[in-house]
Formats: sequence, C-alpha cells, structure tokens
Amino acid sequence: TKPRVLLCRTLPPQSLHRITTEPSIQLIQSTGTSREEFLELARGVDGILVKLTEKVDDELLDAAGPQLKVISTMSVGYDHINVPACKARGVRLGNTPDVLTDATAELTIGLLLATARRFGEALRAPKTGDWQAWTPTWMCGTQLTGKTVGLVGFGRIGVAVAERLQAFKLGKLLYASPSEKPHAAGRLNAVHLPLPRLLAESDIVIVTCALTPETKHLFCTATFSQMKSTAIFINTARGQIVKQDDLIHALKNGTIAAAGLDVTDPEPLPSNHELLQLDNAVVLPHVGSATIETREAMAHLAIDNLLSGLAGAKMPAEI
Ligand code: GLV
Ligand code: GLV
Repeated sequence: TKPRVLLCRTLPPQSLHRITTEPSIQLIQSTGTSREEFLELARGVDGILVKLTEKVDDELLDAAGPQLKVISTMSVGYDHINVPACKARGVRLGNTPDVLTDATAELTIGLLLATARRFGEALRAPKTGDWQAWTPTWMCGTQLTGKTVGLVGFGRIGVAVAERLQAFKLGKLLYASPSEKPHAAGRLNAVHLPLPRLLAESDIVIVTCALTPETKHLFCTATFSQMKSTAIFINTARGQIVKQDDLIHALKNGTIAAAGLDVTDPEPLPSNHELLQLDNAVVLPHVGSATIETREAMAHLAIDNLLSGLAGAKMPAEI
C-alpha cells in the first residue's frame, strides 16, 4: 500500500499539481480550518507536509501514530517543530534552506530602505492631503552612506544581506554570531563583535538569526538601551526574538529611532495593535520569502524532502 501523506492546506500551483499527481503516495489534504481537523486527519499517516503555521509537538506526533516517518516543513525556520520529540520517535525532518535566501535578503534591504526613508508615512501622505509642498525638512529620513550596520546572525540570510549592503557605501559592517565566520567576513569586510559592542556602535541593527532558546526575547529594554537613540532596528527573522512590548516602549520614548519588522508576535498582528499606530514602525506581514519563484522552490524542496524521507533515502535538506 502507498504511504499516506497529509498536506496541510495548499501549495503554490506547480508544486500543488506535482504532489496531487504524485503516483507513489496517497494524499490527504486538510483545509486548515482547525487544529482538531488537522490532528484527526494526521491519524495513521506516514508523512506530513507543514508550514510554519502548524505546531509540530507531542500532540501531533501522538495523533499521527508510530508509523509516522517524516515531517517536511515548507520553511527554513523550524522553531515551530519540537525537534527532540521527533528525533526520539525516529521521525525524520526536512526544511527549506538556501532556496529562500535571496528573496529574504531582498526583502530585508527593501524593509531597511522603507524604514530609513519613512515609506510608511511617505506612501500615505499623497493620499491624505499631508503632501503640502516640497520643503527642505519634510519627511527626512536617514541615509545609509557611511553608516555602521550590525548584523545579528551571519548565516545564509545574514551573509546574503551583507552582500547586498556592499552597494550602499557603508562605513562599517559588523556582525554578531555564536561563531566567527572568517571566510564570509573577510570577503565582505565584516567585523565580528560581541553583541553589546555591536549594539553600541551600529546605526542600523538587522536581525536574521534563528529563534532558539538563546535568542528568544534577546531584544528587550536592556538591549534596546545599549543601542544609539538614532538607531534603526530591522527584524526579518522571528517575532519572538523581540520582546515586543519593550520595542513599542523604545520606539515611543526615543530609546531607538525606528523599526522595520517583517515578523511580529503574534502573527497575524491584530489590525488595531499599538505597533501599527506608530509612525516610526514599518510592519510587513511576514513576506520575506514571498516571491512566486521562491515559494515554488520552497514547496518543491519540501516535496523532495518528503518523498526522499518516505523512501528511506537521503533528504536534500534534513534537519
Ligand atoms: C519563514 O519565515 C521561513 O522560516 O521560511
Ligand atoms: C524569512 O523570514 C522568510 O520569510 O523566509
């Protein structure tokens, strides 16, 4: 009998066509309407393809049962997955690194420019009548030329951001990460510093690190206080790396100048949330990897991981 695979909700069109016509599996698709439905459909399956919106925990593993072989997530981050619990049960895990690096780095640069040059307010002004005249001081933001940028996280995405930043004639490029990366750092002229020094010296702080127990709430009042009052804070990693109430406070009382966020806590953010009222916060709805090309590539890689895992073969990207 063919292995049964649960697909949570949907995929981009080409990869959806591929998985729905894949002859080696029997596909079950959840509507994604409720956790209960998902758990119910998981019963007895051999493989599950999830997104970062599905928690993979003991509850799901119990619901699936001992025959479960592989869980494949269509995301590079896997903080939604209890990895030790999966390993303890011999469930193999796959994610989607590399294929989303360029898209996420592009979005990070876009968000940086949008925040530094106040796109949120500037895009509103022509529509609301706030555009009165060209004046020498109106809608002035921060220029990148000559500035010091500090990267928190210097993995695939951090390095790809650093590559793109080379075009902006920065003053200095700094990075903080658990281990030094001399090869990439040498090529990109990036200097490794302990986080407190990076925060104190940077005009712009960009977070691309993974969410782990060590990075959870890494950015809080204590860390924002170490930053320049003119600093711009960018996060395209995970919302929970930031203690969001502390960030709101820092933005309101001038501890830092502005923030650009592609990730929040929770997601989605309620539309009446205080963060969305702040002129010095630019908030995007977690679209770092959201290009047509990248989302298809992520889904295809997730399918490749799933099928290889089911076949007991080497997975292209195994966690
Ligand atoms: C998205 O945030 C991902 O982890 O792929
Ligand atoms: C990164 O956060 C992504 O959306 O891939």
